[in-house]
Amino acid sequence: MVAIIALVFTIIFFPFSSPVSALRSNYYDKTCPHLEQIVNSTVEKAMKNDNKVAARLLRMHFHDCFIRGCDASVLLEKKGNHKAEKDGPPNISLRAFYVIDHAKEKVEALCPGVVSCADILALAARDAVFLSGGPTWKVPKGRKDGIISKADDTILPPYPLPSPKSNISELRRNFSERGLSLKDLVALSGGHTLGFSHCFSFQDRIHNFNDTLDIDPSLNPSFANSLRSECPMHNKNRSAGSVLDFTPFKFDNMYYKLLLQGKSILTSDQALLTDKRTRALVVKYATCQEEFEKAFVKSMIRMSKIRGHGRQEIRLNCRVVR
Ligand code: HEM
Ligand SMILES: *[C@@H]1O[C@H](CO)[C@@H](O)[C@H](O)[C@H]1NC(C)=O
Ligand SMILES: *[C@@H]1O[C@H](CO)[C@@H](O)[C@H](O)[C@H]1NC(C)=O
Ligand SMILES: *[C@@H]1O[C@H](CO)[C@@H](O)[C@H](O)[C@H]1NC(C)=O
Ligand SMILES: *[C@@H]1O[C@H](CO)[C@@H](O)[C@H](O)[C@H]1NC(C)=O
Ligand SMILES: *[C@@H]1O[C@H](CO)[C@@H](O)[C@H](O)[C@H]1NC(C)=O
Ligand SMILES: *[C@@H]1O[C@H](CO)[C@@H](O)[C@H](O)[C@H]1NC(C)=O
Repeated sequence: MVAIIALVFTIIFFPFSSPVSALRSNYYDKTCPHLEQIVNSTVEKAMKNDNKVAARLLRMHFHDCFIRGCDASVLLEKKGNHKAEKDGPPNISLRAFYVIDHAKEKVEALCPGVVSCADILALAARDAVFLSGGPTWKVPKGRKDGIISKADDTILPPYPLPSPKSNISELRRNFSERGLSLKDLVALSGGHTLGFSHCFSFQDRIHNFNDTLDIDPSLNPSFANSLRSECPMHNKNRSAGSVLDFTPFKFDNMYYKLLLQGKSILTSDQALLTDKRTRALVVKYATCQEEFEKAFVKSMIRMSKIRGHGRQEIRLNCRVVR
């Protein structure tokens, strides 16, 4: 509490003297002028080779920012017995690490020791969205890479990742702990316009929902049946699942349209309809792609500014501390 008051006091009275310098979109203009081009072409090449890459990069940036701030902690490998974030239970489908490695190698060859892995990831997520047909924006840069990455951080207090089973009050709290609003929650959930979910992330909605119902009644019944055929109760196929939206490679507002039809995948998606304010935003974004894109860009920039803390550095290899 004292710390919060002190922080608020500092921000109000010394807005320009904070110990960490603000992020800037021209941060590397002098030190690594070709950075953005390198990252963009690396992402583009990877997407041509594997259409799942865009979703993975976007989700990776989200996980990075939500745990310890956007400090590339999600990229670190475990050390000995100490499991890293990427070894934590929500890690499934965090899988495009090689794309960041490739970009980093090229960047190191041109501007050694200058560009953080956290900035490369933030750029890659932006490019993945644009190259999937979504909006683009200027990425504020100047992040540093953290030196700590722990599997338990993803699921244990104080700041675990939001669970796909969350209700609206849990989501709200999860976001507000990171300085993000209900509006950010709704706009960023639109990231689920890309990609795929494994069965276990929504299994509880389609089998043994509760003591009286087998299926979550907020699901469209025929859609629920198709999910059940993809994900039967005792499924041996551990890769089985469903796309998060019917156009999983296109960044559009289909996610919100489907949500209003009871065709969302996760309980946490459905939860956006249970609060008047968040529901109104869902309706707005379902109706107007442009409003969605505007809000998404704003919220991505806000999310990408979540600060890392503790000792920081510029890693040379994104998987290991220097
Ligand atoms: C609101 C809280 C959120 C929850 C509870 C959540 C949960 C999940 C879950 C459970 C999956 C499926 C994982 C799997 O089974 O493979 C997923 C996938 C995904 N999430 Fe989220 N997510 C949230 C917010 C976000 C945000 C803010 C973004 C980015 C802006 C995002 C981007 C994605 C993407 C792109 C995928 C697809 C990944 C792929 O296809 O590999 N999510 N999310
Ligand atoms: C990335 O490349 C695409 C196509 O090659 C181009 O249209 C886009 O402007 C580039 N984005 C950035 C940020 O350079
Ligand atoms: C995810 O974590 C599990 C252990 O919980 C581990 O076996 C698996 O290799 C990890 N997956 C990735 C992609 O790192
Ligand atoms: C959300 O879930 C928590 C338990 O995790 C519960 O205490 C709370 O009442 C729920 N809120 C709503 C609005 O259902
Ligand atoms: C996030 O939500 C989970 C439940 O989904 C809860 O256990 C956790 O405490 C929340 N974390 C924050 C930082 O609000
Ligand atoms: C099962 O879920 C439905 C819909 O949410 C609810 O109306 C019903 O009371 C629940 N039943 C039990 C036993 O929890
Ligand atoms: C398992 O599920 C995945 C994803 O739905 C699918 O592509 C694959 O063909 C399935 N494998 C088998 C053996 O059914």
